[in-house]
Amino acid sequence: MKHTMQKHESNYFQIKDVARQWINSVESEKDSFRDKVIYPKIVHWLGSHHSSGILEKILDVGCGQGIASKLMEQETQANIIDTNNDWWFRSAVPSKELAYCGIDGSSYLIKRAKENYPKTCEFMKASVYDMPFEDKYFDRLFSINLIMHLENPESAFDEMSRVLKPGGRFLMITANPTRYSYFEWYNMFIEPVVTKNRIEGKIKIPNATLQRNSIYTHSKNRIAMALGNAFKESRDKSFFVQKYSTTYTITPLRNPKNERYFNVNAYKAPLFCAIEGYKNKEIN
Ligand SMILES: C[S@@+](CC[C@H](N)C(=O)[O-])C[C@H]1O[C@@H](n2cnc3c(N)ncnc32)[C@H](O)[C@@H]1O
Repeated sequence: MKHTMQKHESNYFQIKDVARQWINSVESEKDSFRDKVIYPKIVHWLGSHHSSGILEKILDVGCGQGIASKLMEQETQANIIDTNNDWWFRSAVPSKELAYCGIDGSSYLIKRAKENYPKTCEFMKASVYDMPFEDKYFDRLFSINLIMHLENPESAFDEMSRVLKPGGRFLMITANPTRYSYFEWYNMFIEPVVTKNRIEGKIKIPNATLQRNSIYTHSKNRIAMALGNAFKESRDKSFFVQKYSTTYTITPLRNPKNERYFNVNAYKAPLFCAIEGYKNKEIN
């Protein structure tokens, strides 16, 4: 199963200034999309299919400066309200029963994770394409906004599948493949350079501009196919798209006098999707 190492995309979070801009943005977020949508989804997922009393080893792939590790510190009885979707659940993440490990390709972000969350968890610098773990080590893995930065999701998924136990579950949050259009993901870049399925440039994020970054606009089919091949399971693999914000499509038109005007269409644009699934129990 293990992939032969090949050259992969550059990780712009390994540039010191980009890492600093990312840290500043994440650490000044308040009442963010992360808190309102992504984290409730992850906590809910952590609590689902969880057998009480059994320690679960959890891997956060591309953990950045480690912020999601704070979810592991929640009290057993914590209530989380998802105001966006108007439903609630009791967090079923008993912190004592979870062992968290985060890996990330940026040494600056891993250093920050170790400063910020010293008690909780283990953090390591590693590439998703070649992780320093035994086969079938983790019970679960998740990733937040990693897949869209990877040129080769196929080999990343193979490696994730290798370290996951048979029957182990995954949850990946990434750019919604149906929302790459010019006015959505493209529009977050300043002077983007587009080559094949890659957008590169400065990118606006909630509280900062990253001076350089890229995302890969992998199609939904490519992601689904790669997941199916790596995890050999497709039954509960699904694209679960969260409502995010209102976006506008602006269509340039001409009136009968040949004057230009714009047709503006507002609609709910989920920029991110969550993909859930599990590794086939039969894989050895
Ligand atoms: C958008 S950030 C998200 C970070 C974190 N998951 C969060 O929610 O804050 C993407 C992260 O993926 C990491 N990354 C990109 N390519 C990687 C690779 N090949 N291996 C490991 N990490 C990678 C980057 O270093 C960066 O921290």
